[in-house]
Amino acid sequence: MKKLIPAYVRVPLIFALVMGGLEFFIDSGDRPAFIKFPMVALFLGVFLFLLVAIEIVVSAVDKVTYHLLTDEQKKQLEEAQSVSFADSKLMKMLTKSKDIDHEADVMLDHDYDGIKELDNVLPPWWVGLFYACIVFAVIYLVRFHIIGDYTQDEEFIAEMEQSDKQIQEYLKTAPDLMNAEKATLLTDATALAEGKTIFTENCVACHKADGGGAIGPNLTDKFWILGGGIKNVFTTISEGGRSGKGMVPWKESLKPTEIQKVASYVLSLQGSNPVDAKPAEGDEWKEETAPTEEVAEVVETVVDSTKTE
Ligand code: HEC
Repeated sequence: MKKLIPAYVRVPLIFALVMGGLEFFIDSGDRPAFIKFPMVALFLGVFLFLLVAIEIVVSAVDKVTYHLLTDEQKKQLEEAQSVSFADSKLMKMLTKSKDIDHEADVMLDHDYDGIKELDNVLPPWWVGLFYACIVFAVIYLVRFHIIGDYTQDEEFIAEMEQSDKQIQEYLKTAPDLMNAEKATLLTDATALAEGKTIFTENCVACHKADGGGAIGPNLTDKFWILGGGIKNVFTTISEGGRSGKGMVPWKESLKPTEIQKVASYVLSLQGSNPVDAKPAEGDEWKEETAPTEEVAEVVETVVDSTKTE
């Protein structure tokens, strides 16, 4: 066996197995265990060192013992080790093939212009596979065609539900992802300054530099057509206004975090009373009355937009 798998294959193989096992059993989230937990990396390092050390010691012991052997024993050892994989016991067991010396035993009488035929038994590995297929087919038949465990449609739906859950799980922890539900009003100066830049670059044409409104409505008063508060304003900027009114969805050109910043900037203009502001449109927005039906509806659309179906 030792000659069959040389040390330079054996060491990486054992190491990979142990590492794979650790990754499998240690729950380290989205990062590999040996990165998340330095102790694991340390353990792997020591383990690799020991593996190499053991190989070196064993091969040294082998060399020493070899020198102590008599010539007779050396010859025996070489013979035993010269067995190749094709002649090994394992291979014999899997194929049951006849040695070339014994081929005459299975030779058939046929002779086609000198081409003869051997009557070898079916190799056990093949026969085993064949029986395994039959067993599998019977179980499959009973489970899906007789009992009707689940259909492909059900399997598909279950998988979609599963991945939906995974997406929600991911959204909970992903720091860069922002949506209307998670959007909070930013008040720090840097975020608002960034919001102002975005506003100046994209929005002033319709809402005026001071937010007083032109083509678009006045953004500085308490009256909102599409709902006030950070979550609604986020949704309006991201998904656009009512169709045909001119307010396009900005989610294609602005990142969610940028939408949060510009929305916060827009809300920071509340009550700034710019000159020549457009007259109020829409309903007065009171933060306390936030969960009205209309809001619930808007939030609902946002939830849908993250679904994969
Ligand atoms: C092409 C003109 C145009 C541009 C550019 C534009 N808007 Fe608008 N915006 C509108 C119009 C028109 C409405 C009214 C939509 C409606 O009535 O449904 C609106 C509505 C809004 C509302 C909701 C107001 C309310 O009363 O509910 C917000 C918030 C808003 N815009 C923010 C922005 C931001 C932020 C930008 C830049 C990223 C922007 N808009 C760019 C035209 C524009």
